[in-house]
Amino acid sequence: MSTEREQPRKKVTPALLRKMKEKGRKVVMLTAYDWLLAGLLEEAGVDILLVGDSAGMVVHGFPDTLPVTMDLMLAHTAAVARAARSAMVVADMPFLSYQVNPDEALRNAGRFLQEAGADGVKLEGGKRVAGLVERLVEAGIPVMGHLGLTPQSVKTTGYSLQGGTEDEAGRLLEEARVLEEAGIFSLVLEKVPASLAEKAASELKVPVIGIGAGPSCDGQVLVTQDMLGLFPTFKPKFVRRYAELGNQILDAVKRFARDVRSGDFPGPKESF
Ligand code: KIV
Repeated sequence: MSTEREQPRKKVTPALLRKMKEKGRKVVMLTAYDWLLAGLLEEAGVDILLVGDSAGMVVHGFPDTLPVTMDLMLAHTAAVARAARSAMVVADMPFLSYQVNPDEALRNAGRFLQEAGADGVKLEGGKRVAGLVERLVEAGIPVMGHLGLTPQSVKTTGYSLQGGTEDEAGRLLEEARVLEEAGIFSLVLEKVPASLAEKAASELKVPVIGIGAGPSCDGQVLVTQDMLGLFPTFKPKFVRRYAELGNQILDAVKRFARDVRSGDFPGPKESF
């Protein structure tokens, strides 16, 4: 099993993702909200850039994802799409952009492709969105599903582990089957027991991408700022930190402030 994408990199599409699953190649997905970081993720060979509605919390400081709007998501998606080359850009449909009625949902999903340059959309929920998934796919819009912990339902479910009992696990697997039948090209499973994610990944033909869902998923996703350690005091169990950028930034800014205050910056080399 290879750990890196083959060269030259092909554009990541739903068909390529399906092939990756068949060959046992793991899908690498990270969140991206802006052009600069998206370009670095693209260069590092990330397969899917997810313009998550987590942007609301990570970039805009909202307490949850509920205040996120279409306008905000379109702007983030367009910035990310400008940096993407071979990576697939998937835009999260924000709260209330797809729940009100199917026509509005289709128009909103289409805007991500037509106006912002996305390659697909993601929406949360199971059976209740299956009809909508069919409609979007029929219109030519690739749809990624999202089950388990679905942050747009935080007011009813909280942020706790989902699918923890046998009944809940059975229901969640059934929802996953229904979504696959409806035409999703991939499924995000968030914060569920590893055993349940393993079953879903082995039953479904589409790649199951986990976040807090154990090692048996067909791919993994994290919020980029979490894995880069940009929030020094926030470390959920399912995150592995690959850098400590929060502390590095704090240190760099403190050193800059010290040099400005002491008159050490700018020096002769930084002056004309
Ligand atoms: O919004 C987001 O970042 C997400 C991921 C956590 C899967 O939906």
